[in-house]
Order: sequence, then structure tokens, then C-alpha cells
Amino acid sequence: MEISSKDCNPKDLYKLMTGMIVPRPIAFVSTKSVYGVHNVAPFSFFSAVTSDPPIIMFSLGEHKGEKKDTLVNIEHHKEFTINVVTEDIAQAMHESAADFAPDVSEFEEIGLTPIPAAKIDCMSVKESPIHMECTLEKVIGVGANYMVLGRVVHFRIDDKLYMEPYKINIAELKPVGRLAGNMYSETKNLYKLDRHVDKRKLR
Ligand SMILES: Cc1cc2nc3c(=O)[nH]c(=O)nc-3n(C[C@H](O)[C@H](O)[C@H](O)COP(=O)(O)O)c2cc1C
Repeated sequence: MEISSKDCNPKDLYKLMTGMIVPRPIAFVSTKSVYGVHNVAPFSFFSAVTSDPPIIMFSLGEHKGEKKDTLVNIEHHKEFTINVVTEDIAQAMHESAADFAPDVSEFEEIGLTPIPAAKIDCMSVKESPIHMECTLEKVIGVGANYMVLGRVVHFRIDDKLYMEPYKINIAELKPVGRLAGNMYSETKNLYKLDRHVDKRKLR
């Protein structure tokens, strides 16, 4: 099959790309609204940009021609937490993506526990074992979408997952990835690869 992207409509492109860029990590982004409502929603167009400086990105589309609450809140408040999604909170994360009104807190609706972040004025999700507390670097418009660049100012890691020095126990973390549509993947059967190239040919 050969498909030229210019022959595709936006829905086709979304289906193709979310089917082939898999599994995607999920940023469970908690924010604070101008009225002090604590919001949390998942975004899987999410990645690390650089580790030095520690910059992450996620992108949002519009909903019915309007900016999503997460973006409105971040543009106003300039701070947010990325909560890592694990098997234990996958269902709650999935529920939280429903189209709740801006004055409804997904924390309360879904039954997640808000806890104050350490270094920013924002709530994190207690049930998530890793929080990346971020300050807004930049919002970049990309077509009808918005790419948020955030700087991680503080990492909060459940002691059970932290292995000196600076390593995370991924098998214990049990992160969940997003596939296409309502499909998700668990992180199982981890394995190591050795490299067998001819070392004499290396720089
Ligand atoms: C696993 C998952 C990943 C998602 N990823 C994205 C994404 O990358 N970009 C986006 O605009 N919406 C994404 N969504 C949809 C948003 O979570 C949804 O529109 C949500 O209602 C936005 O909430 P807000 O208006 O409170 O910001 C995703 C939904 C799910 C369940």
C-alpha cells in the first residue's frame, strides 16, 4: 500500500499516524484554571524533546473550534504537572478524557486525589507514582494544533521505583502506552539487546 499524505483528509491522517506511531507514552497533564479548578486530561502526542535542558512536549488539537481546557489553563497559569500513567490508573485516565465542562474538576469526577506539587502551584495526581512538575517554555501553533513545550523543574518519584543513581525501575512502574482509538498496551516482557557490530569500524 502506498499512501500520499496529500490525498488524506485530517481524520485519515490521524488514523494512520496513531496506528503506526505506537505505543505512545501518555502525559496525564494536571493544570489549574483561572477560577482555581483543578483539571487533569491525557495527551499521547507526547515526548521528551531534550534532557539538557529537561524539556518535554505534548500537543493538543482544538475541540469544536475552541482551545482545550488544558491549554487555556497552561497559557494562563504557566505551570502544569505531567503525571505518568500506570496500569493502576489507566481506567481513570481513560475516563478523564471525557468532555467535561471547564468548571468541573476531573479529579472529583473520576475519583483521583489531588496533592500539591512540590515546586509549582499546581495539583498532581496522588495515584500516579511519577510527577514531572513543569513551567511553560512556549506554545507553538502547528496548523490548527498547539505544541506545548515545558521545562521540568522538579521530578517526584515514588521511592519504590527509584534506583540509585537516577534510574527508574520500569518493570515495577508498569507504564501504559496508547495505541489507536481505545486500545492501550502494557509494558511487559522487557529484554536487553547486545550489539555485535565490528568494533574496528567504529569511530
Ligand atoms: C489516551 C488519550 C490520549 C489523548 N491524546 C490526546 C492528544 O495527544 N492531543 C489531544 O488534543 N487530545 C488528546 N486526547 C483527548 C483529550 O484528552 C480530551 O480532548 C480531553 O477532554 C481534553 O481535556 P481538557 O479539555 O480538560 O483539556 C487523548 C485522549 C486519550 C484518552
